[in-house]
Amino acid sequence: MAALAARIGSYLRPGDCVLLEGPVGAGKSFFARALIQSAQTVPEDVPSPTFTLVQTYDTRLGEVWHADLYRLGHVDELAELGLEEAFDGAITLIEWPERLGEVRPARFLRLVIDITGDDGRQVTLHPIGDWPWVEEL
Ligand SMILES: Nc1ncnc2c1ncn2[C@@H]1O[C@H](COP(=O)(O)OP(=O)(O)O)[C@@H](O)[C@H]1O
Ligand SMILES: [Mg+2]
Repeated sequence: MAALAARIGSYLRPGDCVLLEGPVGAGKSFFARALIQSAQTVPEDVPSPTFTLVQTYDTRLGEVWHADLYRLGHVDELAELGLEEAFDGAITLIEWPERLGEVRPARFLRLVIDITGDDGRQVTLHPIGDWPWVEEL
């Protein structure tokens, strides 16, 4: 999972949005953490944004936003978080994207994680819009 996250991270550019789907414990935070850490110049803690909803990081790829929308009360709060602006200028990694409702970019990469065993995970990528490099993974 960490290797896949770093590999996907190496292709991401500002404006790219990855929606992380899967049940609790699937590895959405694990994936985001591994991706962010692979792009950090100085290793930093990457806590789960369960309560802050959003954590931002300056990385070699530019600004990365890690969001966990599980505790989002209402879609109006998305504006307060500044997520829509981030869709344009930053790389956004979003857990519980179901909470976004209509507030999502036209182009995004859906990543669905299924639990197949204690340490087993199956990751399915659904590119929405133009993601030419996904074929190369
Ligand atoms: N192959 C794997 N990929 C990702 N996480 C795994 C894997 N195998 C075991 N795990 C464990 O599963 C848990 C995933 O937790 P987390 O990333 O917080 O899930 P989520 O954010 O989807 O709720 C972690 O404790 C992690 O160590
Ligand atoms: Mg999580």
